Amino acid sequence: MSEDILVKREDGVVEIRFNRPAKKNALTNAMYGIAADALEAAQKDAETKAILFTAEGDMFTAGNDLSDFAAIATGGEPRHVERFLRAIATAEKPLIAAVTGNGVGVGATMLLHCDIVIMAEEARLSTPFTALGLTPEAASSLLLPARIGHARAFMMLALGQPMSGTEAAQAGLATEAAPREEVEARARKLAREVCLRPAEAMRITKKLLRDVEAIGARMQVEGAHFNDRLRSPEARAAFEAFFKR
Ligand code: COA
Repeated sequence: MSEDILVKREDGVVEIRFNRPAKKNALTNAMYGIAADALEAAQKDAETKAILFTAEGDMFTAGNDLSDFAAIATGGEPRHVERFLRAIATAEKPLIAAVTGNGVGVGATMLLHCDIVIMAEEARLSTPFTALGLTPEAASSLLLPARIGHARAFMMLALGQPMSGTEAAQAGLATEAAPREEVEARARKLAREVCLRPAEAMRITKKLLRDVEAIGARMQVEGAHFNDRLRSPEARAAFEAFFKR
């Protein structure tokens, strides 16, 4: 199970690699737990200057594991995902994402907490929340319209319209788009640049750029709706339909 997500630190960069390609890197509770632990440790570790998210296989991540969602819908409790979301929302060190393949659900919304997002030109981000009977999470209802405007955010969050890496870079959702095989190297290069800057100036700059209080408050409001929706008949039907395909 722990092999599903790999964590290592090299030259001041903690790398969190989604490594469950057979399941399209869908994120289980255990994977969120490992990622949250890594983020919390990185926050306390003076040697860590940046955190890099990346993934194995053809997808960045297919989002939350739908069996875990289904388990919550029938009475189980969400656990580490909330700690993971809090950790990316409150991270004081730059978060960098190398998005080599498609990102679905949290695979898209987590990028709104990343300071540098390098995306494969043809990779697609999608947030099919309403189709699953769900609502936006990870403060995406606040952060996505702030990044790309209400019109495009509505098409993504309410209608699940995907956005390519090229479009994401044009819209300001990604830092830049690159050919898939260059994405990780480009992200690493920028991570190295971050490491070379004075850490305290970097910390304050990031803090000034993000209204962490407003983000936390929106996450709480969204979380209440989301947890309620997870248990709704609409969501149960959608999860069942996915596994009966
Ligand atoms: N949760 C659990 N398992 C998932 C998953 C998820 N979110 N996404 C993919 N998988 C599993 C599939 O069940 C399948 O498992 P199997 O081989 O044991 O049957 C395996 O990963 C491969 O997925 P598959 O659907 O066959 O690949 P695909 O290339 O045809 O489609 C996706 C890829 C991502 C488009 C499709 O899997 C999908 O829509 N996943 C759900 C995404 C989602 O709704 N995420 C939650 C957002 S809130």
